[in-house]
Order: sequence, then C-alpha cells, then structure tokens
Amino acid sequence: MSKPRFYLTTAIAYPNGRPHMGHAYEAIASDVIARFKRLDGHEVRFLTGTDEHGLKIDQAARAAGMAPKDYVDQMVAPFRSLDEQLGISFDRFIRTTDADHKALVQALWQRMAANGDLYLGRYEGWYSVRDEAYYDAAELIEAQDAAGATVKLSPQGTPVEWTVEESWFFRLSAYQERLLALFDGQPDFIQPQSRFNEMRAFVAGGLTDLSVSRTSFDWGIPVPGDERHVMYVWLDALANYLTGADGSGRGGLDGEWWPADLHIVGKDVVRFHTVYWPAFLISAGLSLPKTVFGHGFLLNRGEKMSKTLGNVVDPAEMATRFGVDRLRWFLCREVAFGDDGSYSDEAIVERTNADLANGIGNLAQRSLSMVAKNLGGVMPTRAGAPGETEVRLKEAFLAGSEAYFGAMNGLALHKALDALMGMVAAANGYFAENAPWALAKTDVTRMAEVLAATLDATRRIVILAQPFMPASTAQLLDQLGVAEDAREFSGFNTAVDAGVQLPPPAGVFPRITLEG
Ligand code: MSP
Repeated sequence: MSKPRFYLTTAIAYPNGRPHMGHAYEAIASDVIARFKRLDGHEVRFLTGTDEHGLKIDQAARAAGMAPKDYVDQMVAPFRSLDEQLGISFDRFIRTTDADHKALVQALWQRMAANGDLYLGRYEGWYSVRDEAYYDAAELIEAQDAAGATVKLSPQGTPVEWTVEESWFFRLSAYQERLLALFDGQPDFIQPQSRFNEMRAFVAGGLTDLSVSRTSFDWGIPVPGDERHVMYVWLDALANYLTGADGSGRGGLDGEWWPADLHIVGKDVVRFHTVYWPAFLISAGLSLPKTVFGHGFLLNRGEKMSKTLGNVVDPAEMATRFGVDRLRWFLCREVAFGDDGSYSDEAIVERTNADLANGIGNLAQRSLSMVAKNLGGVMPTRAGAPGETEVRLKEAFLAGSEAYFGAMNGLALHKALDALMGMVAAANGYFAENAPWALAKTDVTRMAEVLAATLDATRRIVILAQPFMPASTAQLLDQLGVAEDAREFSGFNTAVDAGVQLPPPAGVFPRITLEG
C-alpha cells in the first residue's frame, strides 16, 4: 500500500539581513512536524527557502552598492547554512529567483488573467516597503517620530509611503463571498482559532481590489505581455508553494504534491496566506491548501527583537553554544505553539537541565549503566507476569502516548512535550519505586526485569522525542539497541529482543551552566 502524502511549507524569508531567532523558530517547528509525519508513515515533502524580489530587497541591494541578484546570492547563504546546522530536513530550498519559479508565476498570472480577474488601473494609496504591503487609510495608526512630528504607520508599526502609479489589479473584491464560504465550510483552514476569527472579521469587513504589479522598479518577475510591470512580490512569493509542489522541477501548475497540507507562517503574514493566496488559487482554478497555521512571535526576554534595542541574537551562535537539540527542545517546549513566547539564556539552561539532563538523560543513563555493570550490557528478559508497578507504568504510557499523538496531530507541539514529560516522570517513578540498585544485592532476576521494563519505557520516550531532537535521540536509540529500521512509530510496541548486546553507555545530555 502506498504511503499517505503530506506536503508542508514554511514561509520563505526575505534575505535582506541575517537570519534571526524568529526564522530559526519557524524552521524548527516546521521540521518537527515534517519529521513527525515521516515517522508516522507519511511520504513527506517539506519546502523552505527565500523570498528574493521586491522593493525591499531592491533597496537593500542598492544600499549595499550591489546588483540585486549578486546581493541575494550572497545573502541567502547564511539562511541555508542555518537550516543545515539546525537539522532542518527540507526536500527543497526554493529561491524565488529560480528559473522554474519564474516560469510558474507567469503561468499563474496568465490563468488569473484568462479568468478575467486582472485589469490595468492606477494605484493611489499607502505602501509599506518593510511589510511589502498595501494598506487602507483606515488601517493606519498615527505615531510621533523622533523629532516629534506625527507620522502614519502600518498596523505592524512600519513606515508607509504614499504611492501613485499605474498598476495591474486583481479583482479581490469579487472573492469576499467565496472566502467566507471557505472559512465557514472548512474551519480548520486557519489555525489557531484566534487567527481564524481575525481573518474572518477582516474579510467580512469587505475587500478592495489588490494592486499586483509595479512600474517604479524592475526587480521582480515581469508581467507576461506587459513587461514595463513587475509582479507584486507577494503574488510571486506565495506561488513558491506551487513551484515547490512539482518534484520534477519543470515548474508546471500541476505539481504532484499540490495542494499543500500545511503552510506554517508567522502571525504577521496570515492575511496574505488566508485571503490573497486562496483568492489567487480559486481564480486560477487550482485547489486550496488544507491548513494555514499562524504561529506566534518569539521575543527576547519578552521584548521584540530589533536592531535598535540591540537584542538581536544570532541563532547559529545560540545553536553552537547550547547545542542544536537543546535549542530545538527549548523552543517547542517553552513556547505554546500559536502563542508568542520568550527566550533567554537562563530559561534555556534551566529548562534543558530539568527536562533533558535530569529527566530523559538521567533515566537512560541510570538504567543503561546498571545493565552494563550488572548484566554485561546484555538486554535483559522482561517480566513474565507484570506486577502492580508494571501495570501502572503501562497505563501511564498508554495515556501519555495517546495524549502525545493527539497533540501532535493537532499541532500542539508544546502539549505533546508535556505528555512526553509525563511519561518520563512515570518511568523515573517506576525506577525509583523498584530500586533495582538494591535488588542487585537481593534478587538479580527481579532487578533484570525492572531494568528491562525501564529500558523499554526509555525506548518509547526516545522514539517519540525523535522529531524534536533528531541527533541526540539517534545516539540514545543506538545505546538502547534499537535497530535503525525499528525507529518509526509503527515499531512503537516492539521491544528490543532479550539477549541483544548493547554498546557501552555514554551520557547524551550533560548538565549545562550559564557560563558554558
Ligand atoms: N517573505 C515573507 C514571507 C513570504 S511567504 C510566501 C516574510 N519574510 S520574513 O523574513 O519577514 O519572515 C519569515 C517568517 O518568519 C514569517 O513567517 C514571519 O512571520 C516569521 N517571523 C519573523 N519574525 C519573527 C519572530 N520574531 N518570531 C517568530 N517568527 C517570526 O514575511
């Protein structure tokens, strides 16, 4: 039987600066889901990449005194290498300057034009280069600039400028009813619920036609048949998900992975993904992604990361300092997926020492070193008839793994880790209660049974922890004697055979201190 397919994507980052913790967070959370789905028996395609056209990149390239293509070629490298460092298991790193993407976007445009949804007009209104977004006057907020003058800002707090130019428009106003029908008919389309409510209210408030081309600069994909215009960068960028759906790299609109199962994006770009994107797709006669999940923002000690505040940290440096798996664990455990969350060095040290050094690491280390010391490292035989403590452990694990899978399938990554830590507590409790170190002197057969049950509980925990900490769980599964082809969830109930010789144990999660 062929495996069910699952296609997921991250937002594609603007490479007009260095990657920050927000990028790392989105990549890690998405990677956790991709790995979960693979272990859960899906054939997965995972797309990530960079968003390289538009005015913002054009201006950044100018400021750097470079041609835009040379500029992005140089700026993309740290994004890709960060993904590689963080163990992001993408199948393609797409760049919107890739040739197949350009061909696809032009084909998409032609389909929307053929449907009668594009017309030439004149745009007069507000534009934020930072957000690459048009705003209605009513959406703007007023603020004081450094000199005390009143200025208009976008709802995101970014500067806006009055823009007047000839432009192609997309008939977004014609899509209000269809979008509301989509939202109401498919309430899972936008998650979590708070973002659904916000977007539904936005669409219910009425939609105006969207300017989808520019003439005042040329760093973009030319409009087919009207090459004075380049396409609006969001039309170009959103279409990356279609380009990436074609595994052959032909750039056809009929990519075999389309429609996407899941777009993971930050809360600031949910509007583009849940209003503009489905409207473009309906116009082109294409099917719609199943879910858009808007995650929250990551803050540095509760504050927005910004160059002005001087609190932008380099995620590559953080990953090197704490270890990739500690960073991955911390971000998924500490931040409720969907909400904003905060990080600090202290919180990372505290959280990972508690969960990984004292929790999972201690459990593995204590049982494995007892097996090495007392049983020559040979996997012991399990209890014939389980006693009362084994029954309780089994019940805790049944409930825990059910909670884990429920949470993962509902994209509540933090809740899955809560459930996993509940299983760690149950296993550590079982070990302490049965005190195998005392049994070593009085009843070696019973000691061996307790160690076998503890190792099996540890194996289950580590199997479920794999999406979050791919490298350290692989080391632990080696130590636990779990064959490489027995690490998927389908093997969850298959214990390691008694008699298997285990390698010498070595600590995987040493305690760390702030000083490093
Ligand atoms: N290029 C657009 C996305 C186009 S998708 C077709 C963009 N780029 S971005 O570089 O500004 O942001 C990339 C992703 O990172 C977005 O999903 C954004 O929400 C997310 N984040 C940016 N700052 C963030 C935090 N501080 N915290 C968490 N995620 C953040 O938007």
